[in-house]
Amino acid sequence: MSYLAAPDRYDTMTYRRCGKSGLLLPALSLGLWHNFGAIDDLDNARQMLRTAFDHGITHFDLANNYGPPPGSAESSFGQLFQQDFVTHRDELIISTKAGYTMWAGPYGDWGSKKYLVSSLDQSLRRMGLDYVDIFYHHRPDPNTPLEETMVALDGIVRSGKALYVGISNYGAREAKQAIQMLRELGTPCLIHQPRYSLFDRWVEKKLLHVLHHEGVGCIPFSPLAQGLLTNKYLAGIPADSRAASHRGNGALEEGAVTEDKLRKIRALNEIAQQRGQSLAQFALAWILKDPRISSVLIGASKPAQIVDSIGCLKNISFSAGELKKINGILG
Ligand SMILES: NC(=O)c1ccc[n+]([C@@H]2O[C@H](COP(=O)([O-])OP(=O)(O)OC[C@H]3O[C@@H](n4cnc5c(N)ncnc54)[C@H](OP(=O)(O)O)[C@@H]3O)[C@@H](O)[C@H]2O)c1
Repeated sequence: MSYLAAPDRYDTMTYRRCGKSGLLLPALSLGLWHNFGAIDDLDNARQMLRTAFDHGITHFDLANNYGPPPGSAESSFGQLFQQDFVTHRDELIISTKAGYTMWAGPYGDWGSKKYLVSSLDQSLRRMGLDYVDIFYHHRPDPNTPLEETMVALDGIVRSGKALYVGISNYGAREAKQAIQMLRELGTPCLIHQPRYSLFDRWVEKKLLHVLHHEGVGCIPFSPLAQGLLTNKYLAGIPADSRAASHRGNGALEEGAVTEDKLRKIRALNEIAQQRGQSLAQFALAWILKDPRISSVLIGASKPAQIVDSIGCLKNISFSAGELKKINGILG
């Protein structure tokens, strides 16, 4: 059935400025790493994109290797985009990335100019787009001069195939170098995409400070630790969960659902309940309490999860007492 976007889609979402740029991002963005591949149900994927957009989520995040198989999330997105969203192109921020293994031979991985330019051309073909809004280098490459990777990103913006560029999984020191190089080239780094959740707080040490100081936005991924920070695993591993799915490609595995994690999840869930939030809402609100965060990049396997997660926006402030309790639980 043809899609008519909800007329009230901009009424409740909040939008945050991405670093010191002109771009506003929704407080929650939707990532297509899992559940949008060729092995997944296309109609469910369609309903998730519609639900997200109907609630003001204007940013969809992809990468060349999302699927499985790699490339298929972009192909599925392209098909759904052409059917449902083509008339909304100017309302959408679509991102993709290159940096992990994508094709055979020496030019399908890491950070060379050859790889990045070819990969983006492939991504644009799969999605049926003329340009992406944000193109990321997906992970640092220890063997390619950083300057070559940054010159490639700058050239991509100049070619009109991306409006902005970003980096992902870069440590604080290498991020600072990349940001400075891009600035000198005349293409400011828009955004950094690091992993960040209650269970993985490495960005708090230095990276968030560097990004804030440099005026670069931050969009954390896996804010729910791939589903661990929800009420999903409280009573075992459900058959329809990511941990039970054996999807590979970095997806959560059963072995990650440990007794230690469950003890922490149960204790965090008690605070979430006292706040009147689902554990997912609580975990997302905890990240959004920091104004240096531009947007939080959620994943989902069902439209209802997206609606639940958006509910976090009703309360993103935490008392000093709550924060102390949380830190105590996490150790
Ligand atoms: N740059 C990078 O290197 C990188 C790496 C990883 C991810 N990312 C990006 O970040 C996005 C999000 O990552 P992620 O999928 O790991 O994020 P996540 O939000 O931590 O986990 C998503 C999973 O949590 C569960 N879930 C979500 N909302 C829920 C809710 N309200 N209630 C109960 N369960 C809920 C679902 O699990 P079930 O499937 O079990 O239902 C869902 O698939 C990716 O799509 C991608 O765009 C980037």
